[in-house]
Amino acid sequence: MNDSTTTPLAGSTPAVIPASYYQRHIFFCLNERSNGEDCCARHDAQAAFDRCKAQVKAAGLAGAGQVRVNKAGCLDRCAAGPVAVVYPEAVWYSYVDSSDIDEIVESHLKNGQVVQRLLTPAHLGR
Ligand code: FES
Repeated sequence: MNDSTTTPLAGSTPAVIPASYYQRHIFFCLNERSNGEDCCARHDAQAAFDRCKAQVKAAGLAGAGQVRVNKAGCLDRCAAGPVAVVYPEAVWYSYVDSSDIDEIVESHLKNGQVVQRLLTPAHLGR
């Protein structure tokens, strides 16, 4: 008797992928460098993160099944910084000020519409 074809191996990918815990997840690079190199922290990334978190909460978007705002270290796209990325769409934003953050919250995080004018140029990495 051979039942190896009917028993999944430990650690194998499940046949059904469970629903995402969050509808959208936005990560802000808050990386700070002490060696003089440019970094998102020098462009008010912390203030943008705080603004986004507050706006998401105020809009009633925070929590399971909705939106999560998270800190991240360097996302390796420093040349386009400050940057944030939204999943599951994997949309990268380069923002400047709080009005940009408000637009990302209202348009993308709330209504699923990408903010074209803030998209990170595809060629910019570190
Ligand atoms: S320092 Fe922000 S992406 Fe690298």
